[in-house]
Amino acid sequence: MEEILKELERIEREALKDIERAGDERALEEVKVRYLGRKGRVTACLRQIGQLPKDIRAKVGKRANEAKERIQGEIFKKSKKFSERAAIKKERIDITLPGRRPYPYGTLHPITQCLKEICDIFLRMGFGLVEGPDVELDYYNFEALNIPPDHPARDMQDTFYVSEKVVLRTHTSSIQVRVMERLRPPIKVISAGAVYRCDADISHTPMFHQVEGLLVERGISFAHLKGILTFFMQQMFGSDVKVRFRPSYFPFTEPSAEMDIMCVICKGRGCRICGHTGWLEILGCGMVHPEVFKRVNYDPEVYTGLAFGMGVERIAMLKYGIDDIRLFFENHLRFLRQF
Ligand code: DAH
Repeated sequence: MEEILKELERIEREALKDIERAGDERALEEVKVRYLGRKGRVTACLRQIGQLPKDIRAKVGKRANEAKERIQGEIFKKSKKFSERAAIKKERIDITLPGRRPYPYGTLHPITQCLKEICDIFLRMGFGLVEGPDVELDYYNFEALNIPPDHPARDMQDTFYVSEKVVLRTHTSSIQVRVMERLRPPIKVISAGAVYRCDADISHTPMFHQVEGLLVERGISFAHLKGILTFFMQQMFGSDVKVRFRPSYFPFTEPSAEMDIMCVICKGRGCRICGHTGWLEILGCGMVHPEVFKRVNYDPEVYTGLAFGMGVERIAMLKYGIDDIRLFFENHLRFLRQF
């Protein structure tokens, strides 16, 4: 009996020492196997107990279990220490790493950039920049532009009415009469800004932007219109861009035209974006209608004028190859940072 108790004592002491010495999780596991495993020293002792005389069995058994529990407990404590240390190590901040830079500066929104680019081209051609209100009188948005009350362009579905006589401008053409009321020819201006229509899908948003141009002087002809707009497109899309003018209708111009550019995506071969025509509608234009001149007391026999209006989002979409206009206004940084 004395002997086996001494043996247990020794095993326990050595086990504790080994646990203490174990430098990592693996060394600790080895200690565990050595003492508590199937062939371990403690296990061997426990096995012997059955062969001991009955009177000492209980005492030795108790001592053996104590030793086993003590060793188990110490191993558990040490193991916990190891995993805590590992967790701390994982979370440790490496203060020698260079810092992650915050995104350095704010940038202009792609639509603002595109709008600026459009305006800059016209400013270089000698146009002046004028402004008009977003909340506009029905008179300037429609009536003075020869759009009578029953014209479909006024449809409640398209126009946001603030009141019977006040609308959110549906186009920047509303500045034409405002400018001509204030000035006498020669007039050579552009106007840029937001316009509003009650419309929303993959190619329409209720708010978008237009740039409008107006040039009034003696002797202005359709040739000037074609020349100015062709030059503009070459500046905007590259000098190899092909353009065409198609007869169209606007109440405030006569004749009216729509301008197309050769599809910038497929180079005229035909694709999904251009509806397999090879051409993209890009703006509306024409010669200012005599009815519009009469509103501002310009003599249509003396003065002629050209006008045009274009959608900024449409030009930006074509320039950057974007097929959903809504991306511009969702303001996801991953989208915006590309510009
Ligand atoms: N205002 C027209 C639109 O929103 C575009 C337009 C067409 C403007 C012809 C003009 C013009 O100045 O002459 O669709």
